[in-house]
Amino acid sequence: MDNLDAIVKEALDLFAGIDDPDQLEQAKARFLGKEGALTGLLKGLGKISAPERPAAGARINQAKESLESALRERREAIQAKRLEARLAEEALDVTLPGRGLGVGGLHPVTRTLERIEDLFRSIGFEVATGPEIETDFFNFTALNIPENHPARAMHDTFYVDGEHLLRTHTSPVQVHYMLRHAPPLRVIAPGRVFRCDSDVTHTPMFHQVEGLWVDEQVSFAGLKGILTDFMQEFFERDDLPVRFRPSFFPFTEPSAEMDIGCVHCGGSGCRVCSHTGWLEVLGCGMVHPNVFRHVKVDSERFQGFAFGLGVERMAMLRYGVNDIRLFFENDLRFLRQFN
Ligand code: DAH
Repeated sequence: MDNLDAIVKEALDLFAGIDDPDQLEQAKARFLGKEGALTGLLKGLGKISAPERPAAGARINQAKESLESALRERREAIQAKRLEARLAEEALDVTLPGRGLGVGGLHPVTRTLERIEDLFRSIGFEVATGPEIETDFFNFTALNIPENHPARAMHDTFYVDGEHLLRTHTSPVQVHYMLRHAPPLRVIAPGRVFRCDSDVTHTPMFHQVEGLWVDEQVSFAGLKGILTDFMQEFFERDDLPVRFRPSFFPFTEPSAEMDIGCVHCGGSGCRVCSHTGWLEVLGCGMVHPNVFRHVKVDSERFQGFAFGLGVERMAMLRYGVNDIRLFFENDLRFLRQFN
């Protein structure tokens, strides 16, 4: 018992100098373990005379408690020191700006397609689609372009095999649609078309929107009215001038091409309109009786008008883009401008 204070002091000094948790546990065992110094004293209590025993026991227990609390403090101190060291080492700079998430946007061609679809839906047109790989019959023959007809040479066709080809226009959807739906009908057909052609204004793949209205009282005047309204709505200009020029398409008779006043120069003449003041925007006409014959619509009772327009062309004019290839290069500097 005479050594108790010395044992406690030795233990506290030892603990205070330890920085490692394992070493601390070993040091604890030296005093509080089975063979530890304090444990030894407790075991020896029996040898102390009965009157002195409670006081001696109390002193040893007190010593034990002070060692235990010193151990607790030391453990916490070691842990705190380690955490501090780790934090200092990792040195995260929480003030650095984040990487951020890029927000995408709709492609300008998609935007233009949706705009065209919305405008025609608002006046009662359905939206239909058809296959991109077509047979010769649907792409040409059913549209009154017989085999060996020179009009086939106007389309620079990609052939898949002897019978199949990548459709050169969306007009075959007219045929598919009329085979499935009896008139009266009003439909537009947006989609991809393909031609073996590539320069500033042509890409091998581009988009068209086909339009078709068949009923008992459909007239060329109605065609002009609808398309004029559509162009003025699309370009958001009530006073946009338009004109219809006689033209030729095998699947319409009469046929016309529609021009709008140049949206770039306002009609005074510039590079975009080749100094004519006018821009050609679509082909149209009254559905040819031979087309009706192929889909078994009675051309004595029904008339129809049809039109086809190029979507990239509309997007170029609306957004002031002068090279069609920009739409398909996926250069983010270009695409971001439409977000
Ligand atoms: N299919 C024609 C083309 O690709 C465009 C066209 C012209 C469609 C007149 C029509 C139409 O429906 O009536 O050049």
